[in-house]
Amino acid sequence: MAERIDGKAVAAEVVEKVRTAADALRAKTGVQTGLAVVIVGEDPASQVYVASKGRKAKECGFHSVEHALPEDTSEDDLVALIERLNADPAIHGILVQLPLPKHIDEGRIIQLIDPDKDVDGFHFINVGKLGTGEVATAFVPCTPAGSMLLIERVLGRDLSGKTAVVVGRSNIVGKPMFNLLLAANATVTVAHSRTADLPALCRTADILVAAVGRPQMIKGDWIKPGAVVIDVGINRIPAPERGEGKTRLVGDVDFDGAEKVAGAITPVPGGVGPMTIAMLMANSVVSAYRAAG
Ligand code: GUN
Repeated sequence: MAERIDGKAVAAEVVEKVRTAADALRAKTGVQTGLAVVIVGEDPASQVYVASKGRKAKECGFHSVEHALPEDTSEDDLVALIERLNADPAIHGILVQLPLPKHIDEGRIIQLIDPDKDVDGFHFINVGKLGTGEVATAFVPCTPAGSMLLIERVLGRDLSGKTAVVVGRSNIVGKPMFNLLLAANATVTVAHSRTADLPALCRTADILVAAVGRPQMIKGDWIKPGAVVIDVGINRIPAPERGEGKTRLVGDVDFDGAEKVAGAITPVPGGVGPMTIAMLMANSVVSAYRAAG
């Protein structure tokens, strides 16, 4: 049976380090790390994520502000808010929860965020830095950064000689994951919905990262024996066995099948999810240190 990678425990270690670092910065310079989270509309999943980001920021001793705007907020009003946060010296990190309502140009909003406050790592400047190896001054997207920390716990920092397959090519996970694995010397393939014979490709992976958003798509017999499996998916599915109308969270990997074959695997929930929030806190305190000089 595979080792279960305890993302909750690793995330708690990261958060503890962030809290200590934020306290030290405040004691030395008077600067309190400030994180602003912006949400537009009433998507229930987004509301849950935003609430937990705010809670964690307070746990870290941050100045935490949440801007919850109605669904019909105009793009101009959102632009004005971002410009205000960019100019606010008490704010070191700005996170705009995605997706935004259809009438707002998401790309435009992301590119308006000051790259030095872009703790999501979505701005072209930060994407470009990651792609060219300027990681020391970049912000790396939180989910891939957290996934790398979990991989590091099992395999160490140097992935020389390892084959990695990333399933999913999103800007938020797949593409930055490719860059991080490559920077760690893995040999990386990015697969997606148009890939031929995905099961066979997955079977070549010493490290398999699943980020497709399809519940339990990746089966146990797609996995190379002993592989490290990182399941980024968070999907809510009906769970009639728990009672009428009940649901449960599952990943993109069929966990029960996969854990019989893999060497190590992240559970859902309790794997990558908590790491995403922990890395957001880490990016925020790093931003505050940079601002404090
Ligand atoms: N929506 C889903 N994942 C993310 C994320 O990492 N950052 C933001 N801002 N929105 C998201």
